[in-house]
Amino acid sequence: MKGRIFSGMRPTGALHIGHLSVIQNWVDLQKDYECYFSIVDLHALTTGYEDRLDFSQLRRDIALDWLSVGINPDISAVFIQSAVKEHAELQLLLGMFTPLSWLERVPTYKDQIQQLSQQGKDLGMYGFLGYPLLMAADILLYKSNVVPVGEDQIPHVELCREIARRFNHLYETVFPEPKDFVGKVPLLPGVDGRKMSKSYHNAISLTASPKEIKERVQQMVTDPARLRKDDPGHPEVCVVYKFHQIYTPEVAEVEENCRGGKVGCVACKRHLAENLEKLINPFRERRTYWEEPGRVEKVLKEGAERARETASVTMKEVHSVMGL
Ligand code: TRP
Repeated sequence: MKGRIFSGMRPTGALHIGHLSVIQNWVDLQKDYECYFSIVDLHALTTGYEDRLDFSQLRRDIALDWLSVGINPDISAVFIQSAVKEHAELQLLLGMFTPLSWLERVPTYKDQIQQLSQQGKDLGMYGFLGYPLLMAADILLYKSNVVPVGEDQIPHVELCREIARRFNHLYETVFPEPKDFVGKVPLLPGVDGRKMSKSYHNAISLTASPKEIKERVQQMVTDPARLRKDDPGHPEVCVVYKFHQIYTPEVAEVEENCRGGKVGCVACKRHLAENLEKLINPFRERRTYWEEPGRVEKVLKEGAERARETASVTMKEVHSVMGL
């Protein structure tokens, strides 16, 4: 029997190449696990409840991003969280025995409330307190064994294990204790050297055209001490080099040419732009296929059906052992 995997992302806008390694981890895991990949729109509502977001567009966009990178809907269930009502039901039932103090002590909880209150957003809501509980419901609903996540999500998966343990102790053993899996995620700066983020306008999107890629690479900050082509460069302070480290197999040569003043920044940027095009072009091609009307919708519909099938089996058990 293959183990099961659940993971999700909030539909909050187009993904960029900073997200790529996480999705590529999913793509690799598809071969060895039965995977459930969910667009977690309910989670997005916990922080965006007053933003009047158009989720139909946001969900389609992120589904397209996943499919373009290589999530294969023939082997993995790709679906929208709110389309599978069992997520909400299991969250409710887990809430019966989850102490408030467990939720309040999640490290990001108070931080986020404070941070977002500075932006005028009030997160002192029941829904936001329940964010990690909903996430536990996501994971446990499929009896997931492994949860691929970013490092920031580890405390949430830990809490999920505690909730599973408590459930199994109070009622009967229904849930495996899921392990987090933090794949290799190289730290990718934005073109200005800060963290890559859509809100900083320094990101390279997964749909970037060759022209956009060139423009973005043009904007990258290089070694300020290098005024002429034959000045010796310092790759450790150069954003272009940080990208070469991730996307250029012959990076050792790039470093040598920079330090030795043998290749100038203009040529070095052209080299990087070519490699980024090689990376992104196949995504754009696959995306064109999936963009045909009806294709994404079909994937999400069939994904939800498969998810519901598994979820309903778990919920029957949960009802039974909770005496409902
Ligand atoms: N909280 C996760 C994030 O912000 C998204 C998420 C929701 C998730 N439910 C999940 C991730 C279940 C893994 C498993 O990235």
